Amino acid sequence: MNDKEHCTDAKAVLTRRTILKLIAGAPLVATFGLLASPFLRFLRPTLKPLDIVGQSDQPLAEPPIPTFIDKDFPAPWTCLPFTFYQKYLEYNPELAEVRTTPGFIMRTAKNEIVAFSRICTQCRHQQPVNFLRDTHEHNCITQSKTPVLCCPCDCSTFDPNDNGRVLGGPASRPLRRMTVAFDGEYYTITGLEQNGIA
Ligand code: FES
Repeated sequence: MNDKEHCTDAKAVLTRRTILKLIAGAPLVATFGLLASPFLRFLRPTLKPLDIVGQSDQPLAEPPIPTFIDKDFPAPWTCLPFTFYQKYLEYNPELAEVRTTPGFIMRTAKNEIVAFSRICTQCRHQQPVNFLRDTHEHNCITQSKTPVLCCPCDCSTFDPNDNGRVLGGPASRPLRRMTVAFDGEYYTITGLEQNGIA
């Protein structure tokens, strides 16, 4: 065997060895992936199984979906309470948990239909805020010409006429908005503003 033939044989053996190594390593890679998947799900539970780049699982609105019609709001500052249900992915026997959020939907002075979570953003007590039409009756809250949403815990006060902005009290974050869809006839609560805390 001359040098050239020896070199060609060595290259073929090397290629075969590389292919065999790749075939032998594939199960290891698959096993590692399967082991890593639950760990990634533990770190970020909203990830879909074996899909770390896809859109994460989001809570879905659950029936009964709060639905209203225009006549439900005959005048500015008609305010109606409702309960919003959402199904969250959870590691329990049902693989889901339905959570409820109390809310208010109202027609503002700007004639907009807006909805807010009633859960105060201030402290861990997470009290539901109340709708106050006349702020002059209350000493502990900032006076306002338009109705406000006020927490009975420490009088955090929010402006529903301005995206739930904090008007007074210890709260530092606005109330969490809820999304309202209108199809020409019905106003439907479709979701909670993301990244909120309450
Ligand atoms: S929960 Fe404490 S001020 Fe609202």
